[in-house]
Amino acid sequence: MEKPKFKTVQEVIASGEGLPERYLHTPTTESQPLDAPVPEMDIPAIDLILLLSPSEYGRQELSKLHSALSTWGVVQVMNHGMTEAFLENIYELTKQFFALPTEEKQKYAREIGSIQGYGNDMILSDDQVLDWIDRLYLTTTLKINVNFTSGLRFQLVSGKSSYFYSMFKKSLGLYIRGFIEEFLEHCFVLKGMARSLELDENCFLDMYGENAMMDTRFNLYPPCPRPDKVIGVKPHADGSAFTLLLPDKDVEGLQFLKDGKWYKAPIVPDTILINVGDQIEIMSNGIYKSPVHRVVTNREKERISVATFCVPGADQEIQPVDALVTKTRPRLYKTVKKYVELYFEYYQQGRRPIEAAL
Ligand code: SIN
Ligand code: FE2
Repeated sequence: MEKPKFKTVQEVIASGEGLPERYLHTPTTESQPLDAPVPEMDIPAIDLILLLSPSEYGRQELSKLHSALSTWGVVQVMNHGMTEAFLENIYELTKQFFALPTEEKQKYAREIGSIQGYGNDMILSDDQVLDWIDRLYLTTTLKINVNFTSGLRFQLVSGKSSYFYSMFKKSLGLYIRGFIEEFLEHCFVLKGMARSLELDENCFLDMYGENAMMDTRFNLYPPCPRPDKVIGVKPHADGSAFTLLLPDKDVEGLQFLKDGKWYKAPIVPDTILINVGDQIEIMSNGIYKSPVHRVVTNREKERISVATFCVPGADQEIQPVDALVTKTRPRLYKTVKKYVELYFEYYQQGRRPIEAAL
């Protein structure tokens, strides 16, 4: 297996070589210090159990969801079916993985040309300024049964990740499986989003197809000597339909862009964040926004986060739902297939990926 060409951030730190130039943003790439203080965003927390309830409470949750996703593109979620102990375990296991000796972690190193595995920021061009992040990326294929009577059900059927499951046995892999099952059995994100737009509740699911993907990225942001010039994750919007995000429980860092200004994401115990990705922006004909976000670094503290990208089957055609195309709201996006591939192609060329659907 070909090893990655570049050191991970943990290896850079361990080598004692100082901060390599490749991580430094210059005034031409960033106009103000990256660690400048920013206000907190004001987003509601919605109750996932209530979301599909026909009661007045349910309607209130749908309206909160609509307002959050059409302005910020992100919402906090409570009552998501994962216990505090379960979430605590995910954080602990993530920490334990990154605390393994280098040789051990390198056994899971990402191969050239693949996104799956352990590594640093993906290097796409020679002049790219690198992100201060190490990550472990696992992909999973899911079978969706839309007709399951009590709602949406995802069942794990296959995925290269089985390699990881067998390696980690009772640890990370099993928790991801648990994460998927626990979370999605109780949550009806796609149905809720459809209802909040007054659409047939299966309309996003129909476009989703049966072979959905759910990729999980475990992120480590070690303490960084220059948070003013080094970024954890560059500004980007996600190529997913939507993303489930477990931000660090104590250390801030995630920021969202709204009307040209950065806002920090709140840290609220036992909630997770859900952000819209490009594919829901396309399906909702631009009503729900796929927000640009970034992660800033911290001088003293390490930060951990876990992002799960929920993606329709690659061969599915994605397009704006008919009912959302009207005389007053013309169709904004064309029909696309294999959006994730297009996303990386455009990203690599320094273009805004969603332009692939314009
Ligand atoms: C990302 O959006 O790529 C990571 C988010 C996070 O670490 O909170
Ligand atoms: Fe992201």
